[in-house]
Amino acid sequence: MNTTIRKGTSSGKSENIAIFTNNASKFDQSLFSKAELEFVNSEIKKKNKFISINQYERYIFLQIIDTDKKDRHVVLEKFRKAGDQLTALLNRLKLSSVCLLSENDNDEVIAYVEGMVLGNYQFLKYKSDADKNSFHKINIDSKKVHDDKIKELTTLCEAVYMARDLVNEPLNGLNATALAKAFESMGKKGGFKVKVFNKSKITEMKMGGLLAVNMGSIDPPTFTVMEWKPSKAVNKKPIVLVGKGVVYDTGGLSLKPTPGSMDYMKSDMAGSAAVGCVMYAIAKQKLPVHVVALVPATDNRPDGNAYTPGDVITMMSGLKVEVLNTDAEGRMILADALHYAKNYKPELVMEFSTLTGAAANAIGHYGIVCMGDCDEDTKKELNKSANNVYERLVEFPFWEEYDELIKSDIADIKNIGGAIGGAITAGRFLQRFIDYPYMHFDIAGPSFGKSTDSYRGKNGTGVGVRFVFDYVKRMAGKKK
Ligand code: BES
Ligand code: ZN
Ligand code: ZN
Repeated sequence: MNTTIRKGTSSGKSENIAIFTNNASKFDQSLFSKAELEFVNSEIKKKNKFISINQYERYIFLQIIDTDKKDRHVVLEKFRKAGDQLTALLNRLKLSSVCLLSENDNDEVIAYVEGMVLGNYQFLKYKSDADKNSFHKINIDSKKVHDDKIKELTTLCEAVYMARDLVNEPLNGLNATALAKAFESMGKKGGFKVKVFNKSKITEMKMGGLLAVNMGSIDPPTFTVMEWKPSKAVNKKPIVLVGKGVVYDTGGLSLKPTPGSMDYMKSDMAGSAAVGCVMYAIAKQKLPVHVVALVPATDNRPDGNAYTPGDVITMMSGLKVEVLNTDAEGRMILADALHYAKNYKPELVMEFSTLTGAAANAIGHYGIVCMGDCDEDTKKELNKSANNVYERLVEFPFWEEYDELIKSDIADIKNIGGAIGGAITAGRFLQRFIDYPYMHFDIAGPSFGKSTDSYRGKNGTGVGVRFVFDYVKRMAGKKK
């Protein structure tokens, strides 16, 4: 990560200062000369919310965050966005560090710093002349923020950076084997167990869906199992995370048209990045919750041996699937992972995938489409976590009537529905492989941005990491 966060008091007159407040009449006026203060007050009157004073040895920034009559999670998002704005300005001015002064409460300061750090992310690996951000150091001068919160935020931002790095990495830098290796090194760094099944093991286990999608590839598939099992876990049955690891989706023989459709498909493993990287954060923070993450991975390509529309594939569960579109490959590989998850008798399975254009078209990048059959209390808690981190959920129906759309003439089911409810029929397809409480999160919309979206940046966003972390953390607190 390119940004360090520390706690401490402001160290004299040469350190840049940023004051943020939701009360325009409440800031330390002693920092300004009389003339400066007059200027600040006249700007406040003009409703300027972001005021900069260029002093001889430093800058002072004053940001007024409008928090009137809004839900708590909407307020916290304002703080993140304000933090991102400060980061952008610090970099524009080529400044390296800033000291934050705020009277706001812990959660507001943490949200602000989160926005600052996530907004400072860059992917520079392939830039010869990297225009590296100048800004890299935050000093928090606040009695209301505790060291453990800073440590937690640092871990979480690190995990989001790692997820973005994985999503931004192109196929020629990250095939299925490299993805599994990345998880192995995360396991070493975070302190959780990682096992990787290679092609012969995957064949032995009869993961028919994963093998079918892999047939057109020159690279072997991988299946990664990650596990964090602390001795004082609050749960008897684990939470199992499943992430789609399609390292590149050409569509296969049902080839995607380019441009506009295939060009960003290196991001089709964003679900796997989310579940692997949140494992890192959960283990690094030693959350007392037993969590497992499963990642089936391959690219999806056309080739002489590629799986073909019309083929019938026997999945690991024994179910027979008629493939009518090889571009509906995510559900093929996830089905085997969901079947494998039964071994754990999970309390809940949360599966993340860039599964359908239909989900992305329905709500765009503004939220996550979800559906599933876990109980209402769990849904409420998931919703709360999603709001806490502003990765909001939109629940789609999970009605069994949709199953008639994936009936096959010659096999148990087919891998596409019809013109309607594309996100739902994908979810209902996956439902055939579960026997436990299950939620499906379709992140096709929010996983990859084609233009900058505040602290979420551009390109890989790392969506899912903060959401799952918040859920697991709150679960740890509750069950104790
Ligand atoms: N990876 C895509 C879904 C996707 C689309 C992700 C846009 C991110 C942005 C998935 O494998 C896919 O191709 N789905 C098809 C399914 C269809 C053939 C039933 C789709 O959504 O068009
Ligand atoms: Zn596809
Ligand atoms: Zn795909």
